Amino acid sequence: MKNIIMTGDRPTGKLHIGHYVGSLRQRLELQNEGNYDEFIVMIADAQALTDNADNPQKIRDNIMEVMLDYLAIGLDPNKVTFCIQSLLPALPELTAYYMNLVTLQRLLRNPTVKSEIKEKGFDSESAGTPVGFANYPISQAADITAFKANLVPAGVDQEPMIEQTREIVRCFNRIYKKDILTECKTVLPKNESCYRLVGTDGNAKMSKSLGNCIYLSDEPEVIKKKVNSMATAPRDINDPGIIEGNVVFIYLEAFATDEYFTKYYPEYKNLDELKQAYLKGGIGDGTIKKFLNNIIQDELEPIRERRKELSKQIPEIINILKEGTNKAIELSNKTLEEVKAAMAIDYFKDDSFLNDQIKKYNN
Ligand code: TRP
Repeated sequence: MKNIIMTGDRPTGKLHIGHYVGSLRQRLELQNEGNYDEFIVMIADAQALTDNADNPQKIRDNIMEVMLDYLAIGLDPNKVTFCIQSLLPALPELTAYYMNLVTLQRLLRNPTVKSEIKEKGFDSESAGTPVGFANYPISQAADITAFKANLVPAGVDQEPMIEQTREIVRCFNRIYKKDILTECKTVLPKNESCYRLVGTDGNAKMSKSLGNCIYLSDEPEVIKKKVNSMATAPRDINDPGIIEGNVVFIYLEAFATDEYFTKYYPEYKNLDELKQAYLKGGIGDGTIKKFLNNIIQDELEPIRERRKELSKQIPEIINILKEGTNKAIELSNKTLEEVKAAMAIDYFKDDSFLNDQIKKYNN
C-alpha cells in the first residue's frame, strides 16, 4: 500500500517560521520524496471558526495568506491537493457519527485543547468554551479519516488530535466490524529542536497575539529587528556564555546547518563547536545574533520573493483551490458512503432495506 498524506492549518493568520520548522519543511520533504498516492492539504476554516465565530471575515481573509505561504515554500499544486474544509459536506456528517464514539470526558482530557482553553480565556466564568471548539478534535478526525490518511505531517501540538483520531478509527472498525477507516500516525520533524520553536521573546509559543513571530513573508529589516530584539542575559563578553534557554541558540539548533557555518561563520565547523566556544566566553551575543540573522535571511528570501510573484496570480490560485476542493469533495464523499454502508444507514442505496421490511411485514 502506498501512503495517503493529509494535513492542514487553520487560516487565522500568516504562517511563521514556527510552522516552517515544526511541520512545513517536513511536508515539503514528503512531497519531494513522492512516495504517496494522495497528498491533501486542507485549509481548516471551519475549525478556525470554532473560536472565531464572531470574526468570519478574519478567516476569509487568511485563506489566501495561508495558500500563498504554502505555495511560496514550494508545495506544488501538481503534487498536492489543496482544499477548503467548510466546502466538504462529508466532514460535518462524519463528525456527527464519530461524536457518538467519544465520551465528553475523553474529549476534554485532550492536552492541546486544555491549554488552548486556558490561553483563550474560555475557562473564565463569563466566557466559557464553545461546544464546537471542544469538539474540534473529533472534526479533525473526520478531516483525516475522510481521506483514509495514514500519515499526518503536523506539529507536535497536533499529536493529541491524531491520537484521538486513532481511537475513533479503532472504535469504529470494532463496532461496525469493517476495516473501512485507516489508522494514522504523525510525521514530526527529524530534529527534535524543531518541534516547538519558542517566540522571539523566549515565550514557549510563537503566536500572533504575543507579537513574537517571524513570518515567512517578513521583510529583511523586520527580520533583523526581531532577531536583534531577542533577549539574552546581559554579561561581560569574556564571561562564560549560557546556552540553556538562550533564544538565539534555540533558533540556531533549528536552522544552523554546517553549510551556514562555512558561508557565514567559518571560524567554526558546526553548532557544537560554536557552543563550546560560546560556553568558554569571548563570543558576544551580537555576533551570534548576526549569524542567526544571516541564516534566517537566507532561508526566507526565496520564500518572500516567490510569495510576491504568486500574489500577482490570484485567479490562478483560486482556481487551484477550487479544483482541489472539488477533488476532495469526491474523495471524502466516497468515504462517507462506505461509512454509512458499514453503519447500515444507507437505506435507499439498493433494495436491501426494502426487501428486509417486505419480509418482516409479509408484504
Ligand atoms: N488543528 C490544525 C491547526 O491547529 C489544523 C487541522 C485541521 C489539521 N484539520 C487537520 C491538521 C487535519 C492536521 C490534520 O492548525
